[in-house]
Amino acid sequence: MAKRYAIILAAGQGTRMKSKLYKVLHPVLGRPMVQHVLDQVKAVNLDEVVTVVGHGAELVKDQLGRESQFALQAEQLGTGHAVIQAEQLLKDKDGTTIVVCGDTPLITDQTYLDLFEHHEKQNSKATILTAIAPDPTGYGRIIRNENNQVERIVEHKDANEKELRVQEINTGTYCFDNKALFEALQEVSNDNSQGEYYLTDVIEILKNKSEKVSAYVTPDFEETLGVNDRVALAKAEKTMKKRINEQHMRNGVTIIDPDNTYIHPEVVIEQDVVIHPGSILRGETTVKADAEVGPHTELTNCIVGESTVIKQSVATNSKIGDRVNIGPYAHIRPEANIGNGAKIGNFVEIKKSTLGEGSKVSHLSYIGDAQVGSNVNVGCGTITVNYDGKNKYLTTIEDDAFIGCNSNLIAPVTIGKGSYVAAGSTISKDVPGESLSIARARQTNKEGYAARIKNRKKD
Ligand code: UD1
Ligand code: CA
Repeated sequence: MAKRYAIILAAGQGTRMKSKLYKVLHPVLGRPMVQHVLDQVKAVNLDEVVTVVGHGAELVKDQLGRESQFALQAEQLGTGHAVIQAEQLLKDKDGTTIVVCGDTPLITDQTYLDLFEHHEKQNSKATILTAIAPDPTGYGRIIRNENNQVERIVEHKDANEKELRVQEINTGTYCFDNKALFEALQEVSNDNSQGEYYLTDVIEILKNKSEKVSAYVTPDFEETLGVNDRVALAKAEKTMKKRINEQHMRNGVTIIDPDNTYIHPEVVIEQDVVIHPGSILRGETTVKADAEVGPHTELTNCIVGESTVIKQSVATNSKIGDRVNIGPYAHIRPEANIGNGAKIGNFVEIKKSTLGEGSKVSHLSYIGDAQVGSNVNVGCGTITVNYDGKNKYLTTIEDDAFIGCNSNLIAPVTIGKGSYVAAGSTISKDVPGESLSIARARQTNKEGYAARIKNRKKD
């Protein structure tokens, strides 16, 4: 098979985004656009990838890492000029080069494969990926001759009235014979309304040399959306969300309101999971079979076990076991490890803590830097006092312990196995196993005293 190369154009500032963040780094479902582009295009088995960077070069390089080589375009003089920057790395190579824009995050691996196949079958020097746009405003138009062959591409800003009516648009994606591409680029000028070196001019240049140029019309215009501003960014988010949600539904996940459910690309969801409205699942999250998430729940990099239920809660970088019940209104902060069958109720915050099997923290508690054993009951309002303003300390609660309501456990401290802490205690010393610890002021009752209070005179 002929060698395959890709050039990703990602040097522009993205003026129309009106943003500090460089355009191709704007996320769509949590993933920078340029990363989506690379993820999809690499499915065609590329021998080399070159990303052209300029604005935000270091950030784009950090994002793509080793998956790409980089060429620097110091000044953004147009898409043709951008491709020329990859010359040193690629120009002497034989094979096919796909050029893609870093701002078309919705094009799928299948479309890239279809484009390659079409290009190779036709034996063309250039194949443009085109689409029919209901509203082609802003896109380059495909100009065909009377035999319906592609002649050239005209940019929106350079088009005359007749050309503006053409609905077939340039998606900004092309396959080229690699050597023919770099030769033709030598001839591109900046004699146009934007004073830029357009990559699109290569088509006419090849055509004038009587080289074969073709177009592959993809049936799905939606997929080829180029994101130039935040209105398009929101459209991209919507389309990708729909695509991902439908994939999960086809795999056996119930999504009650797909328009209102945001599942990022790397999330894994097993069968018979139910996702309620307003839920956001991010990063490397896995939700195992029969679990129920939401409504209004945010999970980021979490593992959620089988048959677990999480309502109206936020969980980050944590592992949650099977048959756990969380929420409503719980906050599971990083490095929580919640055992099977545990219960975490309303207004409970858990941070960097382990909770053993079957343990319960049902109401209004803070558990931070704690090792909690199994079958522990943590009463309402219990606080692990883990921080003295400088350092954090560990609280250990051994199996079967019972912590009475409104207790403060001043770390470092250990509550032994099977022990009881009386409600309202402030525990600052270890409690041995199988004991009862009471650490609160004794109660005094003054009988009849109420009348004295009630009869006090006003000053
Ligand atoms: C481009 C095409 C247009 C097509 C549209 C599809 C040209 C001249 N026009 O227009 O025909 O319909 O895409 O979405 O190619 N970039 C650089 N360096 C530069 C300029 C741009 O790296 O000097 C990068 C940008 O970061 C971006 C991509 O190239 O990722 C496309 O540039 P953009 O300015 O968005 O081109 P469009 O005006 O959308
Ligand atoms: Ca664009």
